[in-house]
Amino acid sequence: MSNALLTVSGVVAGYRRDLPILHGISLEVHRGELVTIVGPNGAGKSTLIKAIAGLVPISEGRVELGGTDITSLATHKMGAASVAYVPQTDNVFTTLTIDENLRLGAAALPRSLAKDRIAQAYERFPALRDHRDRKARVLSGGQRQLLAFARSLLTEPALLMLDEPSAGLSPAAVSEVFGHLTDLSDDGITILMVEQNVKAALAISDRTYVFAEGENRIDGPSGVLADDPDMKAIYFGGTKRSTHAASAG
Ligand SMILES: Nc1ncnc2c1ncn2[C@@H]1O[C@H](COP(=O)(O)OP(=O)(O)OP(=O)(O)O)[C@@H](O)[C@H]1O
Ligand SMILES: [Mg+2]
Repeated sequence: MSNALLTVSGVVAGYRRDLPILHGISLEVHRGELVTIVGPNGAGKSTLIKAIAGLVPISEGRVELGGTDITSLATHKMGAASVAYVPQTDNVFTTLTIDENLRLGAAALPRSLAKDRIAQAYERFPALRDHRDRKARVLSGGQRQLLAFARSLLTEPALLMLDEPSAGLSPAAVSEVFGHLTDLSDDGITILMVEQNVKAALAISDRTYVFAEGENRIDGPSGVLADDPDMKAIYFGGTKRSTHAASAG
């Protein structure tokens, strides 16, 4: 068996059956890797993450987690080897405190395990412990992201999927959040994230996939892609590498 934790093969998916958004996406995330997906707006990045999480129907292809077929399986049915999905927005309960958010996130766990996991979360994210009785609404964007990470890690998912964790953050907050992601990755947590902040994402991730128009375009080690001229073509020229170069604008 390969070292792949997540294998996505030829996935066709969309919000309506007659209107696929993803036209045969394939990717792999190995255990312990931090993998980034980048690409222009509307490329299908969020759609893929949602399809893996079982929130968007898959009409063709296959998603495997640890060798088990989880194609179109609802997140709550994935069992122990599950994926956690942190959406781009609305990923915490703003009217609840940090502590209440964490207790709610651990509600499905036995009481003593929940207590341990919340203690671990505070150890990992000391800023959250310092503000534990503060409502999530008044937190900075960066702290709110950390709370969302902490909450999704409480159940110790096999894979953590993040949709644009740096969206809307100040440069200082981006550094803080990305620093925590590096730490999580160093601790062996497997992460698949979508990012618009291409430069910063390439700097912290092991490998990167570039999507455009619902298809794979380029992939490789992030350090190599950082210098790839095709990356620039996709971002600034909209150059199509496939044979069916369309006339549509
Ligand atoms: N809920 C939805 N219902 C129907 N179509 C949708 C829905 N969400 C997204 N789409 C469409 O799916 C396509 C891909 O969107 P998606 O959100 O996956 O792109 P993205 O790569 O995440 O872009 P962005 O960088 O803007 O977040 C777009 O054409 C979009 O309009
Ligand atoms: Mg998106």
